Amino acid sequence: MPLDEYRKANRDNWDDRVPIHVASNDYGVAAFKNDEDYISPVVRFDAPLLGDVKGKSLLHLQCHFGLDTLSWARLGAAVTGIDFSPKAIEAARQLNADTSLSGRFVESELYDSPSALDEKFDIVYTSIGALCWLPEVRRWAEVVAHFLKPGGIFYIREMHPVLWSMDYERKDGLRCLTLPYFEKAEPLKWEESQTYTDGETPLGHTVTYEWNHSMGEIITSLIDAGLRIEYLKEYPYTSGALGLPGVERGEDGMWRFPGSNDSFPMMYSIRATNVH
Ligand SMILES: C[S@@+](CC[C@H](N)C(=O)[O-])C[C@H]1O[C@@H](n2cnc3c(N)ncnc32)[C@H](O)[C@@H]1O
Repeated sequence: MPLDEYRKANRDNWDDRVPIHVASNDYGVAAFKNDEDYISPVVRFDAPLLGDVKGKSLLHLQCHFGLDTLSWARLGAAVTGIDFSPKAIEAARQLNADTSLSGRFVESELYDSPSALDEKFDIVYTSIGALCWLPEVRRWAEVVAHFLKPGGIFYIREMHPVLWSMDYERKDGLRCLTLPYFEKAEPLKWEESQTYTDGETPLGHTVTYEWNHSMGEIITSLIDAGLRIEYLKEYPYTSGALGLPGVERGEDGMWRFPGSNDSFPMMYSIRATNVH
């Protein structure tokens, strides 16, 4: 299906980000290429929460340029990544070739992916900065369920919708929720000249459109799509700074707002089983 103006703008923006992210220190592509035991920090965090992936088929939705996808491959999964950015898929295939792994990467918009890939998986995985690009969480949950084998596992780790509804521009240190917490048909429009990684390279396409989805909307959508929730964990920190203004890294390596006293939700993870 042709993309609407919002997702077309987002795709142009993500295409621009790919070479910047691949070249950044933050993503650590050189470390991934130089050390065949290297696993991305995202997957290192998620592996104990998701469980053993050895010998399992794993579909990574919104896989970006495949660093996390290929980290799952190094942990023994047979991986497939899907993303709507042609530049991301091209870079993922290159990384796959450079590291002699056997990942497969498919270019497709999220909601169109059931018609791009006719297969079911043991595990469907998605993480950090994926849901905010999607207008409807219910349709997303249906895609997740569509790709799961009976008894298959779904795992997500994401930024918390409370964090996404926070006013980032306040200078007085207060954390006020002024942006939409619940899903709205109209997206928020953002304009940013740079991406969230290190490096100064400006983006050619600076406008993006994002949607928030409440915790209740996310959980209920997964349940209605036929998944049984095993856990929902919430975290008062994030595992990466990801351009969040004012966050500080603690001794445990996690990022928090100073003085938040571990009382502000910043991230969550969900593991669920397809009961159909
Ligand atoms: C922040 S990345 C998430 C992956 C991972 N956390 C990472 O940083 O590598 C978000 C990805 O979502 C993709 N994306 C955004 N909107 C999409 C859509 N409607 N369909 C498919 N992919 C989409 C982008 O191209 C991008 O690669």
